[in-house]
Amino acid sequence: MPIRSIFSRTLFSNKVAIVTGGATGIGEAIASELLYLGCNVMIASRKEDNLRAAAEKMTKNPDLTGKVLTTKCNVRKEDEVENLMKNTIAKFGKIDYLVNNGGGQFLSPAQNITAKGWNAVVETNLTGTFYLCKSAYLNWMQEHGGVIVNMVSDMWKGYCYMAHSSAARAGIDNLTKVLSLEWAESGVRVCAIAPGTVYSPTAAANYGDDKIFDRALALQPTGRLGELSEISAAVCFLLSPGASFVTGETLKVDGAQSLYKNCIEIPKHDNFPVWSWDDAPKSKL
Ligand SMILES: NC(=O)c1ccc[n+]([C@@H]2O[C@H](COP(=O)([O-])OP(=O)(O)OC[C@H]3O[C@@H](n4cnc5c(N)ncnc54)[C@H](OP(=O)(O)O)[C@@H]3O)[C@@H](O)[C@H]2O)c1
Repeated sequence: MPIRSIFSRTLFSNKVAIVTGGATGIGEAIASELLYLGCNVMIASRKEDNLRAAAEKMTKNPDLTGKVLTTKCNVRKEDEVENLMKNTIAKFGKIDYLVNNGGGQFLSPAQNITAKGWNAVVETNLTGTFYLCKSAYLNWMQEHGGVIVNMVSDMWKGYCYMAHSSAARAGIDNLTKVLSLEWAESGVRVCAIAPGTVYSPTAAANYGDDKIFDRALALQPTGRLGELSEISAAVCFLLSPGASFVTGETLKVDGAQSLYKNCIEIPKHDNFPVWSWDDAPKSKL
């Protein structure tokens, strides 16, 4: 797919962005659009092979005028996050933008989630986002300002079989608000994107359930899923001066999915207790 953008080709000239999970899916789309708009981009995640292959593809694309580099980083490890910031400043000289896109989860009924599974999802999504925000702030943005865009999900009504991720993403939504207040005095904006369901082959492979996107489509008011480019355009808007008075805000990019039904059907049952006045304690008066 050729990379295109509705934004001006020089919008992010001489700017520097970090995009976690920037080698695949939504993150790759964000990194590519930023590069198309002249931004230099550090993509970071755990799998070096993926990072190398994505960077090679981006570098070969003559439409992508920014420079792309890679850093291996597991966002759950604070020392690796710190290394990502230091490496970005060493290679590119600064950090204007941080896009906390890297993350993931697995489907499971809440009662079957083990402590290990719960911690892995919460640490990757919520704690990892915190480490990245804090490290970008202390290493660069506290002194120079900047913009952070976090990634949440359609967790607004509670998302069945995603208890760990829903809780973590709701935490990120609130972290976004708190940081926007605490860091306004440093000229830092902190926003988030809440994508609806967007097909990406890597996400489909991670879930190991190829029907997940079909089920989401059946409940989608727009009659279609989101496109990767529709998430990346929203991220570019939030990073841009067009959003210079937007902070502490989570932008839903979900085709009204969050206003409609939950993705998992609750089975028919008659197990829910009804209050009976016969059981009420009798008044002594
Ligand atoms: N697709 C959707 O419908 C949808 C909807 C709502 C929210 N989201 C969220 O949007 C983000 C991107 O999702 P996607 O659909 O593009 O799926 P994806 O292709 O699987 O992207 C996830 C990315 O996160 C990286 N990642 C995972 N764990 C990491 C860790 N511990 N440290 C560093 N990087 C890590 C992965 O790279 P490595 O494996 O190399 O580490 C991968 O590049 C995720 O946070 C996802 O949960 C997606």
